[in-house]
Amino acid sequence: MKTIMFYNSKGGSGKSTLAVNLAAYFAQEKVHTTIVDLDPQASSMDWLNLRPISKPKIHGTTKFNKLQKRNKDSVVIYDLPASLYGNRLENYIKKANMIIVPVMPSPIDMRAAKDFIQSLRTMGPIIRKRVKIGLVANRCRANTNIFLELDEYLVKERGIKYITAFRDNSNYIRSARSGLGIFEMGESMTAQDREEWKPLIRWIKSN
Ligand SMILES: Nc1ncnc2c1ncn2[C@@H]1O[C@H](COP(=O)(O)OP(=O)(O)OP(=O)(O)O)[C@@H](O)[C@H]1O
Ligand SMILES: [Mg+2]
Repeated sequence: MKTIMFYNSKGGSGKSTLAVNLAAYFAQEKVHTTIVDLDPQASSMDWLNLRPISKPKIHGTTKFNKLQKRNKDSVVIYDLPASLYGNRLENYIKKANMIIVPVMPSPIDMRAAKDFIQSLRTMGPIIRKRVKIGLVANRCRANTNIFLELDEYLVKERGIKYITAFRDNSNYIRSARSGLGIFEMGESMTAQDREEWKPLIRWIKSN
């Protein structure tokens, strides 16, 4: 079983958007997929409720401890709220194999990501050694200066893998409205998005 958590202490960085799109990817690959939505805003649950019943099933829960043991190929994706600190954050993180940190190309978001990564380093050795951390840039406009800055900053963080950059793009708004993922929408319309997802999917599968 792979457990993947999306987290950044900064709100609005794309945790829920990326969590549901990853879930939709695995579901259409016929992998048993569950979203655990731990945010009282319940954005992921809202998206699941919009999902057409004709599409591959994604299981959803808002309960942290209710998961039964799954087979080794199943995937559990946690959508966390922003602004978690201390023991509560540590308790959640203990359950993760991988943490994906979406970062938007703004100085405030970059600082929040940096603080979070530093707080992970102060957590116990089990967390430091076992949990893989991947950074993804989100809502980027390619070639703007701030994007280059983000890119440089992410690459420099030691022990952390910078995986991919997602453009700011209306396909994610369509996804939020329809309960579908990028990989379930028209291939030509989403060709570039699919390319942007590839490195993240490869990283997840290799961990
Ligand atoms: N790559 C993208 N392109 C365009 N819009 C995006 C992209 N990623 C996220 N968004 C939009 O940005 C907004 C914030 O995204 P989202 O809700 O996923 O962030 P979040 O980190 O889960 O926020 P919160 O901290 O409030 O839970 C949403 O309206 C979403 O549709
Ligand atoms: Mg959210």
